[in-house]
Amino acid sequence: MRKNIVAGNWKMNTTLQEGVALAKGVNEALKNVTANCDVIIGVPFTHLASINEVIDSTKLGLAAENCADHKSGAYTGEVSAPMVASTGAKYVILGHSERRQYYGETAEILKTKVNLALENNLTPIFCIGEVLEERENGTYFDVVKAQIEDSLFELSAEDFGKIVLAYEPVWAIGTGKTATADQAEEIHAFIREVLVAKYGEEVANNTSILYGGSCKPSNAAELFAKPNVDGGLIGGAALEVESFMGIVTAF
Ligand code: PGA
Repeated sequence: MRKNIVAGNWKMNTTLQEGVALAKGVNEALKNVTANCDVIIGVPFTHLASINEVIDSTKLGLAAENCADHKSGAYTGEVSAPMVASTGAKYVILGHSERRQYYGETAEILKTKVNLALENNLTPIFCIGEVLEERENGTYFDVVKAQIEDSLFELSAEDFGKIVLAYEPVWAIGTGKTATADQAEEIHAFIREVLVAKYGEEVANNTSILYGGSCKPSNAAELFAKPNVDGGLIGGAALEVESFMGIVTAF
């Protein structure tokens, strides 16, 4: 059966020193609780190798927040999937709405990134989600379905089985405006139906679908109680040990 997962997405926050301290804090806090979910932190590239040294990787997974759409070569400033894997990270967040919106990441680019991640044994945490206008005009089902189809549906069932999905409505990211648990469940259940139609019940039921967008300790338990919400991708609330752990322990 699918895993419950709480993953932090630190975005472009923390210096290396601050990030190592935060990772150590989460690592320590995890020693004192029984987490009923896998716990992952997504951190800036510069922090990956150092953080990998200070965490217990059996309790805390490490993710990059992106990787390049090429394996190696003359792409100044880019960081490849093999480079990410060589730090000890096991996951990579791909297709975050901020990457799509500010860095022009298209479905085609993301398809390449997903393939490179999988080739390098990184688990993609693949983000999808509609903007406010699409929520309001009711096209959000089609939008989310297309995001999944256009980047992921050329994968074999075996490879698709390695993907973690994160539904993040753009209007809820960093806005304090969380989707209600019912709104999350509605679209998560729809996403699972889309997966059933393409890959069958078994693959669909084994795929973790996380919710992201202003998830915090006060609303996590209600969201995670929904049958198709398998955890969260956490931005702002992942930047402090206490609030992140408040979400981890909501399971
Ligand atoms: P937020 O960000 O929790 O700060 O809304 C979530 C995300 O973008 O992954």
